Amino acid sequence: GKVAVMFGGTSAERPVSLMSGAGVLAALQSLGVDAQAFDPAERPLQALKDEGFTRAFIALHGRGGEDGTVQGALEWLGIPYTGSGVAASAMAMDKTTTKRIWLAEGLSTPPHLALSRAELTRERIRAIPDTLGLPVMVKPPHEGSSIGISKAKGYSDMQGAVDLALQYDDELLFETCIDGPELTCAVLGDGPAAQALPVVEIRAVGGEYNFENKYISDATEYVFGSLTATLEAEVQALVLKAYRLLGCRGWGRADLMLRRSDQKPFLLEMNTSPGMTSHSLVPKAAAQVGLPYPSLCLWLLAQARL
Ligand code: DAL
Ligand code: MG
Repeated sequence: GKVAVMFGGTSAERPVSLMSGAGVLAALQSLGVDAQAFDPAERPLQALKDEGFTRAFIALHGRGGEDGTVQGALEWLGIPYTGSGVAASAMAMDKTTTKRIWLAEGLSTPPHLALSRAELTRERIRAIPDTLGLPVMVKPPHEGSSIGISKAKGYSDMQGAVDLALQYDDELLFETCIDGPELTCAVLGDGPAAQALPVVEIRAVGGEYNFENKYISDATEYVFGSLTATLEAEVQALVLKAYRLLGCRGWGRADLMLRRSDQKPFLLEMNTSPGMTSHSLVPKAAAQVGLPYPSLCLWLLAQARL
């Protein structure tokens, strides 16, 4: 049957989704799948049913795509889709909720505060580094691709960081900045059969893996095999627990920080619709285990379900 590759959408990550979806669409078509582009920003979802699509590959990022809303609509339409279901998608879209779930089960994630717009008075903002130390990561918890995120290095950076993040969310996440390299680890599969792919260490120019260093610059280095075998296994086990606790399905990618001083990993977030652009990390990790990009897309499509 016809496959809808859903990409574009209305979130701030639309430009990233356009890249991911174009890659997935071309890959599926190259393997002979009857796949067509479907942008929910331009067309009502009911059209999927009316036009006889039988499965959906979700290559949407951010709100209105990665957050359970499109998944819920597809459930209602009865069209199997790739990736996590409604609840896991919704929980993972909120970094603060995700951390609370992980913390409740004793998983390692950086110390944090969550404060609403109304709570963010000048005095309260000033007090945040007293609790979390400096630098502080200031994040709109429902965004992706580093959009709206700042690293506040001093007290004087806090207000600007808060103002930026409040453009995207009404409640902000403040996290202690862990000093060390950023790691990422993808998971493929469901439940007990889920498997972690090799861990990637990200070496971004200037040490900051921001939007530019994620999608535009070719200078970011992605290193496999930089961890000892013991630490690699520890990170993979942590990520699998994190994935299962959220009830993720199909695939996902956890982002972490590795504290330099003692090599302790800290979970930052789970992405339930990871980037599939030419610069993205799940494709790089899958290639490491002998799964080239087109085969990865086909495998993910085969996992589509209701
Ligand atoms: N949010 C982007 C697409 C990612 O995590 O890959
Ligand atoms: Mg993310």
